[in-house]
Amino acid sequence: MKGAIISLGSKSSQMVADAMKRYFKTVDMIQLKEIEVSMGKDGGILYQGNPLKDYDCIYVKGSFRYANLLASIANLLEGKVPYMPIAGSAFTIVHNKLLTHLALQQHNIPMPKTYVSSTVEAAKELLDKVNYPIVMKFPEGTQGKGVMFADSKSSAASLLDALVALNQPFIIQEYIETGGTDVRALVVGGKVVAAMKRKAQKEDKRSNIHAGGTGESVELTRELINIALDTAKALKVDVCGVDILESPLGPLVIEANISPGLQGLSKAVSVDVPNEIARHFFLETEAVVKKNKHHEEKKALAEMKLEDINGSASQEVITNLQFRGDRILLPEIVTKLCKFDDRKEYVLKIKKGKLELEEFKI
Ligand SMILES: Nc1ncnc2c1ncn2[C@@H]1O[C@H](COP(=O)(O)OP(=O)(O)O)[C@@H](O)[C@H]1O
Ligand SMILES: [Mg+2]
Repeated sequence: MKGAIISLGSKSSQMVADAMKRYFKTVDMIQLKEIEVSMGKDGGILYQGNPLKDYDCIYVKGSFRYANLLASIANLLEGKVPYMPIAGSAFTIVHNKLLTHLALQQHNIPMPKTYVSSTVEAAKELLDKVNYPIVMKFPEGTQGKGVMFADSKSSAASLLDALVALNQPFIIQEYIETGGTDVRALVVGGKVVAAMKRKAQKEDKRSNIHAGGTGESVELTRELINIALDTAKALKVDVCGVDILESPLGPLVIEANISPGLQGLSKAVSVDVPNEIARHFFLETEAVVKKNKHHEEKKALAEMKLEDINGSASQEVITNLQFRGDRILLPEIVTKLCKFDDRKEYVLKIKKGKLELEEFKI
């Protein structure tokens, strides 16, 4: 079976590709930036100017900056490539925290109270009502870079002014006190295969590894596992990192990541994380390919049976006869099978209780 990863070529993508080579016959690393998508007549996906080859499994991933391209690729490949771990719809939803929260809300997955305002005035009014501290986030930020904390209304108001001046969309979220920690759970095919507790550096509240946080392996409770699995399911993804804050009132999901970093997690846990992902890809692909093959075999068999009928072997059709007045009407299948032609002549051999019909030959 042939596998491929379409990505920006990060270390994490390379790790998964290397692990996939243990299972797939070939694994191609395809650079996202060298892909072109066109739609309409003769549209399709070009890689380095040539049509994308056929694969049994394609893992599409990349940063939010490429969300439109990623979504286009995944949507066009869906239904053509037997197994795609990430649904096309996920690239728009998961790369945006607001859309993610809306999807989670629909599935009753717990999250911190989150607000979105349509106008600056509405946002300012909101700042009068909320409890401090609060968090302000870029909907499309990653690695902790778009996350800001405001301890008071005055600091929130100045952040708000800056965001508005920069034309930067944002969401406002209640701050959950966790001592600068969160949980990153990696879901792979309906299982949490690895999890770590991350702790922010001193003087920081963001626990991202990229922001200097440290990770330690953690055993998750059933509740946390279920929340992580529900999140992946709600977002229609087979592989994702789920970030969870453990609040005094229970776990709350803050985001999901469909391009999760694997280096920090691999260091923290004893599981071979890329191998878990690669093995799942292989098993899923194998199952879909087998199912498709079975389906095709059944179709071919049905066609062969029809050919059988069309060949020399005679076929019995059991039916009752329809009469139009005193005339006999034969079922349509008879016309199809015998391939009689209304321009030819036929001999009817008639006996009581028996009728034979054959082409008249001199
Ligand atoms: N509502 C919150 N309350 C407390 N800490 C938060 C909250 N939201 C985010 N954080 C902290 O900031 C980090 C980054 O936030 P997250 O929403 O995951 O954005 P990113 O996409 O940048 O990782 C989290 O890992 C967590 O440590
Ligand atoms: Mg995060």
